[in-house]
Formats: sequence, structure tokens, C-alpha cells
Amino acid sequence: MKSSRLSETTSLVESWENRLYLEQLVIPSAPSEMGGDDVINGLTQKPKSLPPRYFYDDRGSKLFELICELPEYYLTRTETEILRAYAKAIALITGPTELVELGSGSSTKTRILLDAYAKLGYPLRYLPIDISESILESSAHQLLLDYPLLQVHGIVSTYDLALAKLAPSPLPTRMLCFLGSTLGNMNPEECDIFFSQIVGAMQPGEYFLLGIDLHKSAEILEPAYNDSQGVTAAFNLNMLQHLNRLFEGNFDLAQFKHWAFYNQELQQIEMHLQSQKAQKVELRGLNLTVEFAAGETIRSEISRKFDLQIIQQELSHRCLIPIQVWTDANQRFGLVLSQLR
Ligand code: AVJ
Repeated sequence: MKSSRLSETTSLVESWENRLYLEQLVIPSAPSEMGGDDVINGLTQKPKSLPPRYFYDDRGSKLFELICELPEYYLTRTETEILRAYAKAIALITGPTELVELGSGSSTKTRILLDAYAKLGYPLRYLPIDISESILESSAHQLLLDYPLLQVHGIVSTYDLALAKLAPSPLPTRMLCFLGSTLGNMNPEECDIFFSQIVGAMQPGEYFLLGIDLHKSAEILEPAYNDSQGVTAAFNLNMLQHLNRLFEGNFDLAQFKHWAFYNQELQQIEMHLQSQKAQKVELRGLNLTVEFAAGETIRSEISRKFDLQIIQQELSHRCLIPIQVWTDANQRFGLVLSQLR
């Protein structure tokens, strides 16, 4: 698999005149590369949980794109609005920079930044990092068509692997982007580890652009994760289908239900998959049998909500010095630009 990928990469490089380089640090279809230990851990603990990265197979990435368009899901729309208003300000602060994006997905929001840098006549280098190969490849191709001067180095990888392997930027500086409030998927402990990995991958003077969803009432939060068209439910259930394929599982999707609520105490949305009856599920690829009681749930995602003051303090403690903060008129979402001292 790796060698066929290599020759494919070579031909891509040729056909795009050295503007595209795709690298694959994990092979998502290979269970060994995709871990599986985290699945065993999560499903043998009480309460049961699964890591959110298993949402993002090809179908999951597409469903997430649909979520971003939902009327109830204000996050993407609001962050886009903030980026539109301040991309030029961001570009003027950083100057010519290489953009590295963790969880780039379709790269739709990143185009706003690329446009701002292009308008100022800056060279364009972009390193999208995503766990889904198909979405990374198709968005890279589309970007090359739309930005004739852009160089793309895409990396199919988990965050930790990619951060551990980042080579220094050829441009004067680099900006690591982590948008969409994906940080919310991490509990405080995981967040801590992630920030140290971020700092470990950066040079002093480089920038970190972080997009976070802010605290708000459950009346706004809950519909965002319980949309009327059922797209979020399909996205949640798709994780089980993905696990079936990866690990030879027999989850019956009809026997699980999407459940999402705001946990006031922990200030986080929780998404669960609730077993509709007492049942046994097997994941042969992992040598694992899991028993469910009727009504028992698997927590598939936390989506924490943040406070701009506190997050700035946390960044400062890690020598990521906040340079500027932007929000929308309703203070729903925040963007924090910090610089490593
Ligand atoms: C991509 C992790 C930011 O938590 O809001 C959307 C994922 N889950 N709807 C989020 C998600 C359900 C999303 N993040």
C-alpha cells in the first residue's frame, strides 16, 4: 500500500509542476495504523466512549460538511464571518507565512486566509493535515486550480504524528491554524498534551491561530447538535459503520440512537450512541466482544465551550503570547492569534 502510494505521489508532483506533494503518515484502512487500542480502551471502560476521530471516514467527512451548512449549526458560519472581517488584519500581523492547518477538511474557511495573503502579494504555502485522505486530496486539487501560485503539501495523518514530523518552514514564518473549535473535542488533560505538542512543533516567533466556540445558553447549543434534518444523527451513527469496516465489527445501526445534550457542569456538549436493547457486539479485528445493557450509551464526542479570558491565560502559560482576539457581534465564537515567545 505504501509503495503504490509513493508512485502515485510522484506522478501527482509531475502533473502539478511541483506545486503538490501529498504524504501519508497513516493508512486509514489499515487497522494497525489506525490504532484500535483506543477503541478497545474506550469500549471496555465504564462509561463507554470512543475517540471522535473515528467520525471521519469519507462519508463522515462529507456528513460533517453538511453539518456546517445546517441552520442550527452556527459555529462554521460564525467563524467564517469573523475570518472574512479580519483575515487581512491577520495577514498584516504575520506577514508572509506558511499556513499549517490541523484538521483541514474541505479547507473552505482557509480560502479566506489564502485570499487575504494573496491580495497582499505574499507567497502562498499551505500544509493541510487531515485524517481523511479523500477529502484532503480533492480539496488540494481544487485549491491548486483556484490559486495558481499556491504550493500545497498535504499530510494524511493524526495530529500528534504530523506535529512530531513537521519540518521547518521555508517561508519567514509559519502559522499553525486550528479552527472550528475542534479543540473542544479534548478534555482538559488532552488539551494540555495537545498544547505541548503544538509548542514542540513551533519555532519562537511563529503564530498559532485558534478558533473556539464560546459559552452560551443550552437553548442555542442543543439544537446545533440535534438538527431537525437528522444530519448530526447520521454523522454520529456513521462512526459505528466506520468501526464495522475497520475492525470487522457487527454493530447494527438500527439498534443505536443518536443522543446529544449540554452538560452544564462540565460546560460541554456530549454526543452519545444509545443502545436500544441489551445486545452483544463483536469487533473481530480487535478480538473484542462488547456487551450493552438496554439504554446504555457510548459517548462518542465531547464538544467543550470556552471562555476567551481563560484560554488566553492557558496559552500564555505555554509561552503562546496572545496578540489579538476577534469575535462576532454576538460573542458566539472566538479567534485567538498568539505567537510563541
Ligand atoms: C469539528 C469537533 C468542532 O464539536 O462542533 C459537529 C464536530 N459534532 N456536530 C463540534 C461536530 C457534531 C464539531 N467539531
